[in-house]
Amino acid sequence: MTLQEYMAARQKDVDAALSRWVPPETENPSAIHRAMRYSLFAGGKRIRPLLAITAAEAVSDAPSGVADAACALELIHTYSLIHDDLPALDNDDLRRGRPTCHKVFGDALAILAGDALLTLAFEVLAKLERTSADRRIDLVRELATASGTVGGMIGGQVNDIEGEGKIPTAALLESIHRAKTGALLRCSVRFGAIYAGADTAQLAALTEFGEHVGLAFQIVDDVLDVEQTSERLGKTAGKDAAQKKVTFPAVYGIQRSRAMAEQERLAAHQALNVFGHRANRLREMADLVVRRSV
Ligand code: IPE
Ligand code: IPE
Ligand code: MG
Ligand code: MG
Ligand code: MG
Repeated sequence: MTLQEYMAARQKDVDAALSRWVPPETENPSAIHRAMRYSLFAGGKRIRPLLAITAAEAVSDAPSGVADAACALELIHTYSLIHDDLPALDNDDLRRGRPTCHKVFGDALAILAGDALLTLAFEVLAKLERTSADRRIDLVRELATASGTVGGMIGGQVNDIEGEGKIPTAALLESIHRAKTGALLRCSVRFGAIYAGADTAQLAALTEFGEHVGLAFQIVDDVLDVEQTSERLGKTAGKDAAQKKVTFPAVYGIQRSRAMAEQERLAAHQALNVFGHRANRLREMADLVVRRSV
């Protein structure tokens, strides 16, 4: 199976699970379910759930129900995007190739759709049927911490907004990126590892992998914001410079940023040595994160 075929199959599992967990559009109050589904099924890459599933498969063969756990990551991620695009944050009109949630449903429903996806993520974890209560608690703790204010996604979003217009230093940059994007990507890999029952050494190796992939991911996101068109990205290009964001290209320039992403890719590969060929798909995912064009 090629990487594309593998990813398409896993994406299908994730989308099917998401569709089971999110109430149908016809469910009352219908507007919020339409808003949630609008953003969720707009064609995201599903990188976080795919990393979770692939990490789980590196630890044990196709652990049953992993796609349901992985869904929680996509629910949190999509909530973070809806809120990131709000006028009070990045004020974006385009996301996943469509008008942003607040442009279609209004600010109030977009805020509530984000809140609802966030809440649903933890409902999903609490209701997982094919894993032990202890493991469910571990997953809840992981996701809550990675999404939170201390070194997590929300903390990173605060740093990102407060950083606008500041002199872009390497230290500020790293603190923003590790938290706003890195934390959830690291969590995604750990999610799969925990779900599949990784031992301490495996979890440590996968955590290191997740940290390198997480940093590479945001370096590339920043580079693409400079180099790509809005049409191709499905979101507004050139936004970071316009909003004076502290980004990798702003601190290091494009060339060095690309070289740093490549370094992170290699370090991510290295972290997987203990797994041998069992982690080949994960290595390919790291390659994809760095070499993607959207
Ligand atoms: C974009 O994430 C926002 C960041 C965290 C940098 P993705 O590039 O994974 O977006 P989708 O899910 O594919 O739309
Ligand atoms: C958003 O980062 C990160 C989160 C949503 C947590 P960006 O603001 O760089 O994401 P894009 O570029 O709008 O997708
Ligand atoms: Mg932002
Ligand atoms: Mg943004
Ligand atoms: Mg960006």
